[in-house]
Amino acid sequence: MDDLHIRAAGPSDITAVLGFWQVAAEGASISDDEQGVARLIARDPEALLLAERGGALVGSVIAGFDGWRCHVYRLAVHPGARRQGIAAALLRATEERFAALGGRRSDAMVLQRNEVAHHAWKAAGYGAEEQWRRWTKPLR
Ligand SMILES: CC(C)(COP(=O)(O)OP(=O)(O)OC[C@H]1O[C@@H](n2cnc3c(N)ncnc32)[C@H](O)[C@@H]1OP(=O)(O)O)[C@@H](O)C(=O)NCCC(=O)NCCS
Repeated sequence: MDDLHIRAAGPSDITAVLGFWQVAAEGASISDDEQGVARLIARDPEALLLAERGGALVGSVIAGFDGWRCHVYRLAVHPGARRQGIAAALLRATEERFAALGGRRSDAMVLQRNEVAHHAWKAAGYGAEEQWRRWTKPLR
């Protein structure tokens, strides 16, 4: 893993990140477009973390902290680079960021049917809280 480089994404990365999510991420997010990612980077320039190897984008995660909750989104590793510890490294970087900001607990939404993801989250120390349901309302 010595050649893995994790850095915060900037505006010039947006197009590449959107293309990467199409091949690597689970499903699509409501914010997966140029404006959505640009807004994230403008609001919190340290939130979108990219993992690169030899200059190629191999992983991503959003380490979102709003002053109250620490929420992890868009954890994704390129299909050709899985089971090499990249997600684990991204989650370590995410948790270091949260700890530095004073965050108290890291949480993520994980689809029930995404069993591979369950393994990865469990391996990183996360556990499901069965008593909650996600409640949502579209804003537009
Ligand atoms: C889930 C995902 C991010 C894992 O990325 P990864 O880089 O392959 O994970 P890592 O190599 O860091 O794995 C860390 C640990 O997780 C567990 N794990 C990861 N993938 C696994 C699999 N397919 N089967 C069993 N365990 C697995 C293992 O314990 C692994 O440690 P080990 O390889 O030493 O046994 C990747 O499969 C992915 O991008 N999937 C599609 C997007 C997605 O579902 N994201 C999560 C949304 S909630």
